[in-house]
Amino acid sequence: MPYVTEANLTDLAVERWSDIPDPRLRQVMRAAIKHLHAFVREVEPTPAEWFAAIDWLTRTGQMCDAKRQEFILASDVMGVSMLVDAINNRLASGATPSTVEGPFHIPNSDEFADGQSMSKDAPGIPCVITGTVRDLDGKPVGGALLDLWQTDGEGLYEAQRDRDQYMRGVYHSNPDGTFTVRTVAPIGYTIPMDGPVGELMNRTNISHMRPAHIHFHVAAPGYKPVITHLFQKGDQYIETDVVFGVKEPLIVEFHKKGPGKAPNGETMSGPWYDVKYDFVLQKATSAQKAA
Ligand SMILES: [Fe+2]
Repeated sequence: MPYVTEANLTDLAVERWSDIPDPRLRQVMRAAIKHLHAFVREVEPTPAEWFAAIDWLTRTGQMCDAKRQEFILASDVMGVSMLVDAINNRLASGATPSTVEGPFHIPNSDEFADGQSMSKDAPGIPCVITGTVRDLDGKPVGGALLDLWQTDGEGLYEAQRDRDQYMRGVYHSNPDGTFTVRTVAPIGYTIPMDGPVGELMNRTNISHMRPAHIHFHVAAPGYKPVITHLFQKGDQYIETDVVFGVKEPLIVEFHKKGPGKAPNGETMSGPWYDVKYDFVLQKATSAQKAA
């Protein structure tokens, strides 16, 4: 092996990190070394700057616990989480696009009957979401699972309210594919800004807000499940979502209605939102072919 110079150091490191039996790990580590070296060669950090980077990563790890994942947040705000999601969900044109799950999904939500409210006593403007789950050929998908989670009308999730079974629920589509969800409208919210990611964001002009959205996991036997969001059209943060989650087909109109009868049969005494969206699932077999 030749001795080290600034010029040959990258080649030496890539070569050494090629001695890995697992071919995928070998590929990953060779690319990681190559791109890390390219980053350092471009930026030319001083020792103090390199230590600041190590310190930021250290504190990012120390901020993580059972409920808080600061590294995922870092990945989210740099667009990496959505890129990994896009690469792993190259769906057919016309299928409902996927997005990242995010940190607020809680499994085993209570089940609700079609049209029944999952919002209980939560603050917010009533919101009724109706639509059909169907496949790429337009065929209705009955019995599809719709697992929803969202903020209440004050922008807070269950985990931030110290509540149980709050602003989340499971519905199933009817035999004709239709579904009716009764909830309250979410509002936009800030990502956690009290950690190293927030500290970094505060040194930029980047918005740390997410536009109002409802998270959905939609699944049915024989179909590729999709994790996605529906976003409220016109939200002030719709074009600057800090985690890059907004895909155009996922922006939906929240039609504001006056008092009266809603599609779930409920008589609303004040304003409420009427939201319509059809989920389109792709067959599991064609999804595998696409992958
Ligand atoms: Fe969210």
